[in-house]
Amino acid sequence: MADRVLIFDTTLRDGEQSPGASMTIKEKLMLARQLEQLRVDVIEAGFPISSDGDFESVRRISGEIRSITIAGLARAAKKDIDRCWDAVKHAAKPRIHVFLATSDIHLQYKLKKTREEVLKEACEAVAYAKSLCPDVEFSAEDSTRSELAYLARVVEAVIEAGANVVNIPDTVGYTIPTEYAERIKYLFSHVPNIGRAILSVHCHNDLGLAVANSLAAIQSGVRQVECTVNGIGERAGNASLEEIVMALYTRKDLFGIETGINTGEIYPSSSMVTNLTGMMVQPNKAIVGKNAFAHEAGIHQDGVIKEKLTYEIMKPETVGIKESKLVMGKHSGRHALRRKYQELGFDLSNAELEKAYTLLKKVADKKKEVFDEDLIVTVRDALRIVPPVFKLKYIQSTGGNQIVATGTIVLEKEGVSYQDSATGNGPVDAVLNAIKRVTGFNGKLVEYTVRSVTGGADAVGEVFMKVDFGKATFIGKAASLDIVDASARAYVDAVNKLVHYESALTAHKEQHHETPA
Ligand code: KIV
Ligand code: ZN
Repeated sequence: MADRVLIFDTTLRDGEQSPGASMTIKEKLMLARQLEQLRVDVIEAGFPISSDGDFESVRRISGEIRSITIAGLARAAKKDIDRCWDAVKHAAKPRIHVFLATSDIHLQYKLKKTREEVLKEACEAVAYAKSLCPDVEFSAEDSTRSELAYLARVVEAVIEAGANVVNIPDTVGYTIPTEYAERIKYLFSHVPNIGRAILSVHCHNDLGLAVANSLAAIQSGVRQVECTVNGIGERAGNASLEEIVMALYTRKDLFGIETGINTGEIYPSSSMVTNLTGMMVQPNKAIVGKNAFAHEAGIHQDGVIKEKLTYEIMKPETVGIKESKLVMGKHSGRHALRRKYQELGFDLSNAELEKAYTLLKKVADKKKEVFDEDLIVTVRDALRIVPPVFKLKYIQSTGGNQIVATGTIVLEKEGVSYQDSATGNGPVDAVLNAIKRVTGFNGKLVEYTVRSVTGGADAVGEVFMKVDFGKATFIGKAASLDIVDASARAYVDAVNKLVHYESALTAHKEQHHETPA
């Protein structure tokens, strides 16, 4: 039987640290369920001490996802480890992931500690974590810039202290495949107790080498790789899960290594991450980009028609990409729609189906053809993750190059309608200004993306916006045939998330007898 490498997914922790990727607790739970379908081995669900929200999402994921290991991150400090344990302790398979830097650069400038002090702290932290949890991982942060002999001493000592997994991260994306492979081989040959732990890697993509470095490390013997869906993460991101998995799958002849990944769930996972974070995948991105399986050149098209093998090393269906299919017309009924949604992986309640049905009828009235993609964006609107406090009831806008753009909106809150109008630099700006006047939430748009879901001038447009409200930043999303309408609803979505966040925070503070700020 082929050797197996464990896939440690950190989309919810390192991925979520990427600028603009923040998710709500419900969104994180939804992604964790998808990662379970994808069959990753470990989900790093968050960094519990970093915020109440992170703690709560790690705790909820630990309670719900029972088939795989749930890890929480902690610095090498008792209070971090305690908080992490509190969040993961109800998981079926909990893991505490402790990290401490080992490079002289970090020791001198960040930690202001000696190598001996760090070695001792790492061992104490691992031993303490182990006294709480049977599964402990230790990461030697910035290990690719750490002195090798010292790194080997740390690895040996933390294994002695009880670490089951030792991670050798390329924190700053600095190494290259041959150098990394040598480093790993050195550890295998110089750490006497190395056989008692699983060696892991975690690569960042600053030089565009995260996947190549991870694969080189696997070839040198590591049996856990840490990665994220779509490669999202700090700065240039982390190693992309789908690229590592499909390289191992496609070149099994070379690697002789298996993963437990259900490859058919790769594309649905990628789409979910895009949809939840608003971080679009570039069209030429390997495996999951829009063009990854598109053949444009005549010679290629001719070859693929004759025999797919000529230019295709993987089948799109292996990663879960299905052909766009015409799915619904004006006359399709609820029954067919429910069946279609089931095929797409959405089990809708009657109320949700009714909402999706009404929204889709509107789309089908205006648009000749309705595709799977239209169905997916529509269902996301129907399943609004946050129950809306403000509902957009009416919208009207004017614009052009000779007039001042104006927007009028009616918003409903608790059954009462509020109307207002405003001007702006364009119809979208005008409508958002009117919404700000009614809600009183004056957010700043830090990111704004419009994506056409299917082709053609009558395509459904999906708007993602990141809105900074000062105290917190939220992503708002909405889809519509009309971009101004989608933009207005995306802003209202972000406002609703803020309102929920504030009431959850107040409830939490009241529960803990703190005075709300
Ligand atoms: O990049 C890094 O070193 C990390 C550690 C916490 C594993 O994210
Ligand atoms: Zn990292």
